[in-house]
Amino acid sequence: MNQSYSTKVMEHFASPHNVGEIENADGIGKVGNPVCGDIMNMYIKVENNVIVDVKFKTFGCGAAIATSSMATDLIKGKTLDEALALTNDAVAEALGGLPKVKMHCSVLAEQAVRSAIDDYLRKTTGKGLQLKSDKDLHEHALAED
Ligand code: FES
Repeated sequence: MNQSYSTKVMEHFASPHNVGEIENADGIGKVGNPVCGDIMNMYIKVENNVIVDVKFKTFGCGAAIATSSMATDLIKGKTLDEALALTNDAVAEALGGLPKVKMHCSVLAEQAVRSAIDDYLRKTTGKGLQLKSDKDLHEHALAED
């Protein structure tokens, strides 16, 4: 397993894509990892079931920033279903891999996407997604450490 950061991770950390907030976002995802205390907020704009814009604000480690950046790139222009199919492994892979102890940061990115879509669905249909609980995230983070 890779123990150092790939060039892609460093690029996305140094110059993250899609940073910021969307005013009047259609969905807002807010997730945090109870172990490291890092927080990720994601904002989506949805038109005809497609994520036409996405931005994020991450208060966290370099890997959390890089995975947020990559996740936003990967879901922009995608349908909600396509975005929901995004896994943390796919985000990490697109970044050229992450050190094992940093894989939990990519879980935060997957959760932030799901949380933003969940918020959008709750607002538009009254029914949200089944989200992984904080407990799952906590256990995942511990398993990776
Ligand atoms: Fe917390 Fe990376 S160390 S998300």
